[in-house]
Amino acid sequence: MISKNPIMSRRRWLQSAASLTAFALLSNVLSACGGSSAGEAEDSVTKLELGCNGDELAYDKNSLSAPAGAKIELLFTNRSHHHQHNWVLVNGGEEEAMAVYQSALVTGIDNDWLPPDSAQVLTHTPLVDSGQSATVSFQAPTKPGTYSYLCTFPGHFLAGMKGTLTVT
Ligand code: CU
Repeated sequence: MISKNPIMSRRRWLQSAASLTAFALLSNVLSACGGSSAGEAEDSVTKLELGCNGDELAYDKNSLSAPAGAKIELLFTNRSHHHQHNWVLVNGGEEEAMAVYQSALVTGIDNDWLPPDSAQVLTHTPLVDSGQSATVSFQAPTKPGTYSYLCTFPGHFLAGMKGTLTVT
């Protein structure tokens, strides 16, 4: 689910595919790994960016939007100097976000403040240190609607570190 740069590797793959020999070799490798087909267009990826406002406990955007079912690549940059943050997308609204927040508190720091095996979590970044960033790739929900996101680090959600992804 989390990858540093899936686009670059696909671009490189397409360049390599120009050579028939490389194509044959890579096809073998890809089919051996159950890899993706050559037909997927890289321009169909919706890129989203999100940060946080310095050391305020808030994201720099409290709303994002994406087409239903789209491939999403979200870059989260932690611009704070002191805080760790994450970005967790919830299958539901504010109430489900609160439930995710509370179960994250129970699992604690050993699990990066993430609730394991929660059906309410659609996707998430790892816990990101100050000054660092992380990219998460996922498929947007196929059902249009609004989905809450939050930071599950203790206190941050309650301070307002949350927002909604609108799927259209
Ligand atoms: Cu946070």
